[in-house]
Amino acid sequence: MTFMKIILKKGVVGIVVGGILVALAKALAFPPVFQAMFFTYAMLGAAVFILLDAPPVKPVSGVKALIALVVFYAILSVVYVGGASLWPQYDPEVEKGKIAKLLKAKRAKVLPERERLDESLRQAEALEAKLRSLTARLNRLAPAASPDAGTFADSLKPTSGPMTLVARGQEVYDLYECYNCHKIGGKGSVKKRGPKLDNIGSLLTIEDLKKKVLDPAYLYAEGFEKQHKKGQMPDKYKDLMSDEEVNALAAYMSTLKNPAVETPRPVFLKTQVEHGFIVYGYVRDRLGKPLPGVEVKATPLKKHGHAASAKANEQGYYEIFIHLHNEDAGVRIAVSAGGLQKEIVANYDPNDKVAKRQATVDFMSPS
Ligand code: HEC
Repeated sequence: MTFMKIILKKGVVGIVVGGILVALAKALAFPPVFQAMFFTYAMLGAAVFILLDAPPVKPVSGVKALIALVVFYAILSVVYVGGASLWPQYDPEVEKGKIAKLLKAKRAKVLPERERLDESLRQAEALEAKLRSLTARLNRLAPAASPDAGTFADSLKPTSGPMTLVARGQEVYDLYECYNCHKIGGKGSVKKRGPKLDNIGSLLTIEDLKKKVLDPAYLYAEGFEKQHKKGQMPDKYKDLMSDEEVNALAAYMSTLKNPAVETPRPVFLKTQVEHGFIVYGYVRDRLGKPLPGVEVKATPLKKHGHAASAKANEQGYYEIFIHLHNEDAGVRIAVSAGGLQKEIVANYDPNDKVAKRQATVDFMSPS
C-alpha cells in the first residue's frame, strides 16, 4: 500500500470516529466548542497513526540535525500558539454583559409592578379623602345619618394594605435570592446551606427579622453555629436593600408561622440575651414516665405579649422561646400543658447581658 493510500484510509477512519464523537457529544448536550474539540482530537489521533506508517527519514547529523530541530520547534510553536488562539476566548466583559442582561430583565419585571402598587395606593388614598369630605358634607346636611355614614366609610377602608406589603416582601425575598440558602414551603436551597424559615414568624419579631437581615451577626439559628461563625449568610443586604425593601421583607417573614416545619430557634449572641426568655422543663405522668407530644404553651401576661408553644419530646422535655426584652423583667408568664396551668415570674437582671434568661417549669399529669 502506498503512503498516499494509508493517509486516505486512516484519514477516513479519523473522520468517522470524529463524527461518532460529535454525535455523542451532541446527544449529551456538550456545547459546540467541545464538539469541535472532540473532532479535532480524533483527527490528531489519525495523524499520529498515519505518522507511524510514514516512510523513514534519512538520518541527519551535525549542524543539519541542529537546524532541523530548531525548525521543528519553530513549526510546532506556530501551530500551538496559532491553534490555541483560534479557539473561542473567555472574555469577562461578555460574561458581565450576560449578567447585566439577566438583572435588567428582573428589574424591568419588578419596577412596573411597584409603580402599579404605588399608583393604586395613591388612588385608594384619593378615594378615601373624597369619601371623608363626602361624609363630612353628609353629616352637615343630615346629622342623623352620621353613625351609618361612619361605618360605611370604615367599611371602605382599603383592606389590601398589609396584603400588598407581604406580597412585596415575598418579591424582595426572591429578588435577593434568599432561596439559595433557605427553604420555605419545601422550595429552595437544595444544598441545605441555611435553615428552613417556615416557622420563623413564630420565633422572631419584625424588628429582630430586620436586624438579622441587616446584620447577620445579630443572632444565629440553633444548630447552625458553625455556618454562623464562618459568616455564611452574606453581610451585604444593609448596602443593597432600601428601607422599604427591608420592611416588606420582614413583614413577609413575620407571616411565616407553620409549626409543622421545624425552624431552628434563634440564639441571640451573648451581648443580645436581652431579647428572649426560655421556659423549659419536663411533662411526666404520676409515675415519672415522660409524656411525649403534649403541647406546652407559655403566654407572657402583658400587653401585646405573644404566646409561644412547643411539644414535649420523647423524654418529655420541652423548651419554649418567648420574646421578652429588658423592660419586661418581672413580667408574669402563664404556662399551661394538658389542662394544667402554672404561673411564673420572669426574673432577671436587665443589666446582665451575659447570663441566659430562663426558668424551668415541670408538669406532672394527674392521670
Ligand atoms: C449564602 C447563604 C445565605 C443566604 C443567601 C441567606 N442566608 Fe439567611 N442564613 C444562612 C445561614 C447559614 C444561616 C444560619 C446561621 C446564622 O443564623 O447565621 C441563616 C440564618 C437566617 C435567619 C435566622 C433563622 C433562624 O432560624 O433563626 C434568617 C431569618 C435568615 N437567615 C434570613 C435570610 C434572608 C431574609 C435572606 C435574603 C435576604 C437570607 N437569609 C439569605 C445563609 C444564608
